[in-house]
Amino acid sequence: MTQVTNTVRFVLDGQIVEAQGVRRTTTVLDYLREQLHRTGTKEGCAEGDCGACVVMVGELNAAGTGVDYVAVNSCIQLLPALDGKSIKTVESLKKQDGSLHPVQDAMVGCHGSQCGFCTPGIVMSLVNLVQTNDAPDRQTITDALSGNLCRCTGYKPIIDATVRACEQKSALKLDDQADVPLLQEIRRAQSPTLSLDGEIIVQPVVRTRKGNEFVSPATLSEVADYLVKHPNTTLLAGSTEIGLQVNKQFSRPEHIMYLGNVKELRQVQETSNAWRIGAVVSITQVEALVAEAYPDFAEVLRRFGSPPIRSTATLAGNIANGSPIGDSMPCLMALGASLLLRRGNKTRQVALEAFYTGQKQNVLQAGEFIEAIELPKPQAGLVFRAHKVSKRFEQDISATCAAISYRLQAGKLRDVKLAFNGLSPAPMRAPQLEAVLEGQAPAAVTAQALDGAIAASFTARDGLRATWAYRSLVARNLVLEFIEENTSEVA
Ligand SMILES: Cc1cc2nc3c(=O)[nH]c(=O)nc-3n(C[C@H](O)[C@H](O)[C@H](O)COP(=O)(O)OP(=O)(O)OC[C@H]3O[C@@H](n4cnc5c(N)ncnc54)[C@H](O)[C@@H]3O)c2cc1C
Ligand code: FES
Ligand code: FES
Repeated sequence: MTQVTNTVRFVLDGQIVEAQGVRRTTTVLDYLREQLHRTGTKEGCAEGDCGACVVMVGELNAAGTGVDYVAVNSCIQLLPALDGKSIKTVESLKKQDGSLHPVQDAMVGCHGSQCGFCTPGIVMSLVNLVQTNDAPDRQTITDALSGNLCRCTGYKPIIDATVRACEQKSALKLDDQADVPLLQEIRRAQSPTLSLDGEIIVQPVVRTRKGNEFVSPATLSEVADYLVKHPNTTLLAGSTEIGLQVNKQFSRPEHIMYLGNVKELRQVQETSNAWRIGAVVSITQVEALVAEAYPDFAEVLRRFGSPPIRSTATLAGNIANGSPIGDSMPCLMALGASLLLRRGNKTRQVALEAFYTGQKQNVLQAGEFIEAIELPKPQAGLVFRAHKVSKRFEQDISATCAAISYRLQAGKLRDVKLAFNGLSPAPMRAPQLEAVLEGQAPAAVTAQALDGAIAASFTARDGLRATWAYRSLVARNLVLEFIEENTSEVA
């Protein structure tokens, strides 16, 4: 734990910034613009949608010799979560001799900017991309820009600019060597502070006069201990939901606990038949993890928000938030995933399909939290399919997302697990539809039988994103598509 209270320390362009007296809900964007006068970073939507606020946040790499970056939406990140990390803004790109980064040069040369409001965010998304990929194809560039809205220029010149910038390969990497020793200097301690009685003391990064705290523990035992003592604490993982609640609903939680520094929660552990995904593993990491085993799941995650959202958003946060249109849950339910829940030193395993008790309600008890998600690995003969339907392809919320797993034995569907979002107060399995499919040959399943099961399973409700008529039709057609493609035996 850091020994510093009420001071958030981070590295900015070769200097340690000590932010003192910040509120626990001050956003990174507000601090950059209002305190550091780095006004290149813009505020558009303040809800993670437009990308005008994109910056790069860095952490020491595993070897401690360099900095790993992710692009993030600074409007929904809370400043105390930056403690111990580094940040690059658009102002960081200008070199001492006044020259620009190749991406900026090429944006000028290719006429990639008109009004310019989106430009800093676009430049930062692209500079982040070329740190790890110096020859991206046009599709990769498009994906990297899917969280950056530009209303006036159009994307072609911006993509052209990225391709042109990559002709100067040796100049793409940011020079951050001066940041490395500073990151080591402000690195957070990896072991808890103990009182003379051997009790864990979680020292706050920020504590207000009223005694409200922002804490950022480094170990699982600190998290568990603090939550038992302060069960009303709001857990903060990727901040892509909490940031919105702070900005749009003016939420001011009593205590906030940031989980991003807890080593045990950042890991993926592998056994012979499952992955145990720690609670702060990001959607981007999960997308890579499942790419080969479950390509449809990876595709659903590729369409989850945008790169800056996925780089911080976590699978556990998606599950705990429990939105009716949460995208990961149908896939996880169809794959038989379960949750490892912890309260103090007691743990229990709960199947994800048994986790929700209503809209945004679940079985978590006071002081209990999700430690990990257990995702079974592929089994021989198991077919897995999933698809998200939304109005826009990228950066949009599901009308519905459906996922299924089954075996095809002697031409019949067996062990069917089918789950949806968007049709009920929480994502859920659909036992009545599963019963229609179980034991049937795919060609024998009728649209009429599925429609009947859908009507019997869900309450018909029109929503903001889609009418019930549309959602139920999509749900039925997705099931037909999932099984019609597999009329031959797989096992
Ligand atoms: C622009 C934008 C686009 C989005 N697009 C999508 C999308 O396409 N699909 C989709 O499903 N969602 C989407 N979301 C919603 C959001 O990104 C996801 O729900 C995300 O997975 C939340 O994870 P997080 O780590 O950011 O959660 P946080 O905001 O940190 O926390 C969310 C909730 O989970 C709780 N929590 C976090 N970790 C734990 C834990 N370990 N145990 C118990 N409780 C915990 C928090 O207290 C909080 O109540 C989008 C959000 C934004 C802003
Ligand atoms: S201001 Fe729009 S994403 Fe942050
Ligand atoms: S240049 Fe105006 S919004 Fe992109």
